[in-house]
Amino acid sequence: MSLLQEEREIILSNEYVDNFDFDEVEEFVRNASKDLFISHHFAKADKMLVQPRGGFPTYKQQYDLYEFFVKSNVDVLPLTIDSNTRLNDYGTAKKMLRLSEENEIDMLNGYPLVNHGYRTTRKMITNFNKPVSLRHGTPDARLLIETAIASGIFEIEGGPITYLLPYSKNFPLDKAFLYWKYVERVCANYSELNEPINRESFGPLTATLVPPAITIVIQLLEMLLALEEGVKSFSVSFSQQGSMNQDIVTGAVIKKLARYYAEEIGCGDAAIHLVYHQWMGAFPTNKDFAEQLINMSTVIASMVGADKIITKTREEATGIPTPQANAKTVADTQYTLRILNGLPNIVDEEEEEILTLEVKAIMEAVFNDSADTLWRKVFNSIKNGVIDVPFSPHIINHNNMITIRDANKNIRIIDRGNVPIPDRCFEYERSQCDLSKDTKGIVNDIIHDIGIMQ
Ligand code: 5AD
Repeated sequence: MSLLQEEREIILSNEYVDNFDFDEVEEFVRNASKDLFISHHFAKADKMLVQPRGGFPTYKQQYDLYEFFVKSNVDVLPLTIDSNTRLNDYGTAKKMLRLSEENEIDMLNGYPLVNHGYRTTRKMITNFNKPVSLRHGTPDARLLIETAIASGIFEIEGGPITYLLPYSKNFPLDKAFLYWKYVERVCANYSELNEPINRESFGPLTATLVPPAITIVIQLLEMLLALEEGVKSFSVSFSQQGSMNQDIVTGAVIKKLARYYAEEIGCGDAAIHLVYHQWMGAFPTNKDFAEQLINMSTVIASMVGADKIITKTREEATGIPTPQANAKTVADTQYTLRILNGLPNIVDEEEEEILTLEVKAIMEAVFNDSADTLWRKVFNSIKNGVIDVPFSPHIINHNNMITIRDANKNIRIIDRGNVPIPDRCFEYERSQCDLSKDTKGIVNDIIHDIGIMQ
């Protein structure tokens, strides 16, 4: 038995799992409907796919939510997982699921997939026969993704960096890399049986003044770590940044470099997609304004040429959205996409060149780390601040890079920290900003820049 299979058997003999039948699950994936695979839809779709977020504690609520989404013409269904499951606390999730079922009050902020199990969840997913995307935020997602794939969920979001640095304070980063290596290999193995399982990275990170160079580097590295293990379908992503031009430039550079680096490691045969997140930062409490912001995000996603858009709702500032509000966003986004025609083609060569140089310089520094494997090089690069994510709560992150918005709301780097931004690019970034103020003035500007959409 392979080492991986030994590890899988240990993971799946968990007390909260009801007899995982490896052979039956393999047969299920082998014969599963192509419609369940987002990779299949990406290959044939001539429009941007629309996907909301959404997860409720009980099976019945989740089923009802899917009915709402289908009526509003959804392309990809979400399965958002509750926080206890994300932290591998299946015992608390089980207790809270019971309370939610008995009291008609939600005691969980998502669907506790491990507790519901694959036999039950698969019924719902095959019934709707639409691709489902697993939305979580789990550093150790081994049991979760096994349960998801066995249920018919053939897109897995996350990665060792993007599901750690924005979500966790002290989960060990080296362990996250190893746990995600397991995820990639399981996805890669199942991908040989039918259409490929799609992996998606989480580009928004902290959604707080993250400069595009950092976002792109992390997207590329998670993509390489997945392709290295045999994943054949991967989505890089980023969220609306606040400047339409910067988003268009980011989209152009990430597409070009994803292809370039995939070919560099001999994985040019993998399908690579681009996902755009509607604004992920602080939302306006005014629900009508929230809808305007959401529509604008859709327009920008079209300008960027995204393959999929992930939606927000008018209730974002308040909490978890009602099924009605969530379905309304899907219908509105589909409408906006349908009436958006004759988009101009905008290219900003100077900005593209600067951003490309920055990304390549950071990638070069990561590859030049003396460690023997890619994940260790990336681990060291985060540890020594070559990669630095603004506003990450994680203890390993340096938090020495400082960013601010320029007059056109582009996110600019005004302090590099230990990130190897080339001098020419750094001078360009700073030259775009008003740095004549004292420290207090700049801090006030940064606070304002975080909340620009409010
Ligand atoms: N249902 C719907 N949306 C959710 N989000 C988090 N949990 C759920 C859920 N159970 C949304 C948040 C935020 C985004 C990151 O995920 O509202 O928009």
